[in-house]
Amino acid sequence: MTPEFVLTPAAAHAVYRRLLHHIKPYWRMFAFSISGMVIFAATEPLFAALMKPLIDGSFVERDIDMVRMMPLLLIGLFLVRGIAGFINTYFLSWVGRRVVADLRAQMFAHLLRAPTRYFDQHGAGHLLAKLTYNVENVANAATSAVTTLVRDGFTVLGLMAFMLYLNAGLSVIFLIIGPVMAGAVKYATKRFRRHSRRIQDRIGDLTQVAQEAIDAQRLVKAFGGQLREATRFNAINEKTRVLQMKMIATEAASVPLVQLISAAAIAVVVYLSTMQGLKENISVGTFMSFVVAMGLLLPPVKRLTSVNAQLQRGIIAAESLFELLDADEEDDRGTRVLTRAAGQIDYRGVSHSYATDKLPAIQDLNLHIAPGEKVALVGRSGSGKSTIASLLPRFYDASAGEILLDNIPIRELTLASLRAQISLVSQEVVLFNDSIANNIGYGCAIPPTLAALKQVAASAHALEFIEALPQGFDTVIGDRGVMLSGGQRQRLAIARAMLKDAPILILDEATSALDTEAERHIQAALNELMTQRTTLMIAHRLSTIEHADRILVLHDGRIVEQGRHAELLALGGYYARLHHLGI
Ligand SMILES: Nc1ncnc2c1ncn2[C@@H]1O[C@H](COP(=O)(O)OP(=O)(O)O)[C@@H](O)[C@H]1O
Ligand SMILES: [Mg+2]
Repeated sequence: MTPEFVLTPAAAHAVYRRLLHHIKPYWRMFAFSISGMVIFAATEPLFAALMKPLIDGSFVERDIDMVRMMPLLLIGLFLVRGIAGFINTYFLSWVGRRVVADLRAQMFAHLLRAPTRYFDQHGAGHLLAKLTYNVENVANAATSAVTTLVRDGFTVLGLMAFMLYLNAGLSVIFLIIGPVMAGAVKYATKRFRRHSRRIQDRIGDLTQVAQEAIDAQRLVKAFGGQLREATRFNAINEKTRVLQMKMIATEAASVPLVQLISAAAIAVVVYLSTMQGLKENISVGTFMSFVVAMGLLLPPVKRLTSVNAQLQRGIIAAESLFELLDADEEDDRGTRVLTRAAGQIDYRGVSHSYATDKLPAIQDLNLHIAPGEKVALVGRSGSGKSTIASLLPRFYDASAGEILLDNIPIRELTLASLRAQISLVSQEVVLFNDSIANNIGYGCAIPPTLAALKQVAASAHALEFIEALPQGFDTVIGDRGVMLSGGQRQRLAIARAMLKDAPILILDEATSALDTEAERHIQAALNELMTQRTTLMIAHRLSTIEHADRILVLHDGRIVEQGRHAELLALGGYYARLHHLGI
């Protein structure tokens, strides 16, 4: 969650400038829209100006030409105003939607390149809120704020100029009142910014909680967690509502306040002008023009005062988007490329801590794995097995030490080339809501042929159940594969790894979702897969790793024993104890 602090004006400026930078490619459309706004704004003083000939000419002097002209002029004026208004709205929205789409695309692309750490630190719900709610806020705020600033700004200027032209003495009163209004607006601005940021964070919390509950709906049912989830959700929902009301209260209070100030100004003007009118005999038309201009002045002034609320919302939202866009990407500075590794892996003095204030997950690990060797990692949960496996594809960069692949430090390889060498099957099977064929062929540049799919499916002992499905390989398996059993999902993941045919295989409790029967089946397939590959296997059942070339026993992030099954048993240490536990 973003820490709470108030944005300095300089920081706010930087955000404006960055947003402008995103608008830059579309400056023609933007300029077109602005011209619409300016023309629209010009019609307001023109309308006020029409009052003078309308009243003096038509009603007072009964000039027949003027009587005929007036309706046409009025219609003409509103026609121009209508067209200008359309141009303004349409093209500004056009630019706004473009910028939103651009920002979304950039953010999504950035997310795909963000390091694993970033996802560990930011909840999925918060990231989703950025991509949906916050981006929309930027667009809405920017478009309406620009419209108000330019269109209403010009309207106010035009009307004031017109009034000044009509009667300079009276108009001065507005110039005195101006700073008072500005003060009120400045006060409101601060509050808006604070509330906006809080609201935005709450919306992030809201999506986070909702998303968790949706993902865990079975768990919620099974453990009767409905009340807990509802309470959690409602608390945030209520907090958001209260904050929103605070913001609305500020907005609602500031508008009438400014109106009151301006109404006072108008009252003074009306009083002064009637007094003056008595003395100088101002025409009825001139007086009407002046009063109409003043009346027209109020709505844009009112909007100009609430433009802050919008701007602040937009800035806060934009800031959160830029936070994502500025986040570090995965470090991919390596330049060396391996076409197909032989598969020699070395860990040299590798230690890794997930956070500086946490105990290291692995400590001073030295490990040499020969090409084609099958190494098993065992140890209690939390002993660091998965961490060792995650460091190899550089999901995390080790805090200390070096890892080499075929004697090349893995940091010197491009990430793409490094990861192309590794097939990974982990405990949590990740499947997309897509067809079985696309799930198995995920990551293949060219979609695999049916024959190739069948072959890997057969090796992964998945062909039988796939062919029993009504649409076979074209069956869409639902969100994360809900239509399949855990074992079936895991066999698809194994088939996917087989199809990738990489020289290094990482199996992180890959068969944990299978029953003993299925595991025995698939073990044969895995054994076959492993023969030509360097394999790092982490198993929850010791029976599946008895045939490994070497077994490493981990305890608190250190290798405490290593050797073959029989040797380790004979040693009577950690491994023997694990074995006697019957796992
Ligand atoms: N993404 C992570 N962020 C912070 N700590 C983690 C993360 N993953 C694992 N850990 C911690 O690192 C230690 C080793 O975890 P792990 O390698 O997953 O163990 P194993 O796979 O042997 O069960 C544990 O104490 C765990 O809490
Ligand atoms: Mg693990």
